[in-house]
Amino acid sequence: MKIGVLGAGMMTEALAAGWARAGHDVLIGGRTPDKTVDLAERIGARAGTLREAAEFGDAVLIAVLLAGLEETLRAAGAPEGTLAGKTVIDCGNAVDISDFSQVTYEGGSSMAEQVARLSPGAHVVKAFNQAHAAVWRMRPPVFEGRPLAVPFAGGQGGKATARALIADLGAEPLDAGDIKQARHLEAMAIIVIRLLFSGYDPLSVFAFSSPDRADEAITSR
Ligand SMILES: NC(=O)c1ccc[n+]([C@@H]2O[C@H](COP(=O)([O-])OP(=O)(O)OC[C@H]3O[C@@H](n4cnc5c(N)ncnc54)[C@H](OP(=O)(O)O)[C@@H]3O)[C@@H](O)[C@H]2O)c1
Repeated sequence: MKIGVLGAGMMTEALAAGWARAGHDVLIGGRTPDKTVDLAERIGARAGTLREAAEFGDAVLIAVLLAGLEETLRAAGAPEGTLAGKTVIDCGNAVDISDFSQVTYEGGSSMAEQVARLSPGAHVVKAFNQAHAAVWRMRPPVFEGRPLAVPFAGGQGGKATARALIADLGAEPLDAGDIKQARHLEAMAIIVIRLLFSGYDPLSVFAFSSPDRADEAITSR
């Protein structure tokens, strides 16, 4: 598959390297050319502008900081339709880290819904926002013998591609519903980030690590 990536930071390095390794043709578009070329060379991808990446990909990952979201989408030509008909995956965290409050848009909507608003015709899917970049660098991300489950939320038009790209990293796709469910995935990520910042392993809160163990705990009560 042809994958365009908007952004040349840590998440791009982790996710796009996995997709390049899985045999996909990846073009990274960044606002800082030297950094973008350097990253692309390191992970076996091509480098270009934000607009080139948007036009190139059948699937397009957006991996920029929230502060740069609108500027990035405009530079990529999204409002003019460069992302129309494509699966657009948003991995962003909609959080104000100064007080861990959630950043929302019109009517309490999510960052993913804002991406959809700015990208007419795109099939936007929220995914990859629940785990740290270090997890996405794992080949494969497997914990206690089980592959990482990756919840994703979006319209039907983008689900098959999102599933395939999650599976290509060795993780397990977990359908979390339509694009409105992105609000919950974004809120959930804030809890996870807050736990990590406080030195907790999120597994200490989400304690049941397998359905069997959950059954055991319930029947032993
Ligand atoms: N890191 C994680 O563990 C993690 C995990 C899950 C989700 N996320 C989310 O994934 C997204 C990307 O995170 P990251 O860790 O890859 O961030 P990063 O390493 O800081 O890279 C961010 C990218 O965004 C661009 N950018 C930053 N500010 C911008 C602005 N004001 N205008 C335009 N572009 C701007 C940067 O451009 P330059 O290349 O010019 O610097 C860079 O390419 C974020 O929304 C983050 O919350 C991160």
